[in-house]
Amino acid sequence: MQLETLLANITQNSRIKDAYGATHLPIYNTATFDLKRQSSEGQVYDYSRSDNPTRNALETIFAKAENGFGCTCTNTGIAAISLLFETVLKTNDHVLIERDCYGGTYRLLNILFEKNNITTHYADFTELEEVEAILNSNAIKLIVCESPTNPSLKIVNIPQLARLAKSSNALFAVDNSMATFASQKPLELGADFSVFSSTKFISGHGSVTAGAIVSKASVWDEKFKYMANAQGRAQSPFDVFLVSLGLPTLTYRMKAQEESALKLAQFLETHPEVLEVKYPGLPSHPQYELAKSQLKIIPAVLTIELKSAEKAEDFIKKCQLFGEKVSFGGADSRLEIPSRMSHATNTEEDLAAKGLSHATVRISVGLEDTNDLIQDITQALAVESIIPETNVETLKC
Ligand SMILES: Cc1ncc(COP(=O)(O)O)c(C=O)c1O
Repeated sequence: MQLETLLANITQNSRIKDAYGATHLPIYNTATFDLKRQSSEGQVYDYSRSDNPTRNALETIFAKAENGFGCTCTNTGIAAISLLFETVLKTNDHVLIERDCYGGTYRLLNILFEKNNITTHYADFTELEEVEAILNSNAIKLIVCESPTNPSLKIVNIPQLARLAKSSNALFAVDNSMATFASQKPLELGADFSVFSSTKFISGHGSVTAGAIVSKASVWDEKFKYMANAQGRAQSPFDVFLVSLGLPTLTYRMKAQEESALKLAQFLETHPEVLEVKYPGLPSHPQYELAKSQLKIIPAVLTIELKSAEKAEDFIKKCQLFGEKVSFGGADSRLEIPSRMSHATNTEEDLAAKGLSHATVRISVGLEDTNDLIQDITQALAVESIIPETNVETLKC
């Protein structure tokens, strides 16, 4: 079954038990279940923290979509990443992660795991010698990357990384939040885990925070479920419902957003006020060929470098159609300055190592008319005067 067919009717395709033939996923918004009123055949539910039919339906769909053994849905994307770390890693373990990772993942590794003496090695995963050198001199338990990376939009060669992970007995997880299973299936490319935030393209409407982890092997799926129950990380049935509303249109939204993002990227590339445009769908992107072969749809997120931090702040203020918002993948277009928003936990040194400055602006392209977006950007970049900086707060998202 093709992905679009799977997602078009998730009630039927998840095989959720439903006496009335509901078209859309029924919400079992209940804490407990009466054991006396359930048939002893098939799955029995007792408490929603451990298991819930609505959540199970989404987990079934995500496992099928990613071609994995099983899935655990969590209340946020970072909860899924935390579940991964806390289940896989033990005291004194070593993790290897692509340097350009989401600020929240970086924060989790830096702060949360300090107390467990877990060592994090950062590397540029597009430089294989760098990765190999770390693997050769450390017993790495877990390798983690995003692809495309956030916010520098580098493309990691997932099959190559999977081979390196295997030969060094490391587990390999891909944060698939940006690409989603509509574009890329990490388990098919050799990863052990696909972990993602459903807050973004997957739910697609900015209505919910959610996440999930899909495992290739049953043994890990069981461990994640056990830990999710122990820690109470479960996604609520209503939030599952909100995520499910985005699924039938996921591929079609992402394709329309991709088309718009490419036009915006091409326009920005020729604009005299823009120093650099990073978008894997542009032939000028250093991993353009890899992006085209690894991603079915290039996610509609691009990063631009403006001439100064003041210009970047000015640009954001003047854009009318782009909200100044963290996160990406919504129906609405958004702008953010990663250094003071999604990646505010990074030090100046970290930012420099990632090639980020205070003049770097991340753009998430939504479903608005492309020409309207280009017009808005044109007027925002054209105006000479710079609005003086006022009370720009650092957000810890
Ligand atoms: C690549 C990536 N992974 C994970 C997360 C965390 O997801 P959530 O905000 O749903 O916790 C984010 C959030 O921006 C992200 O960009």
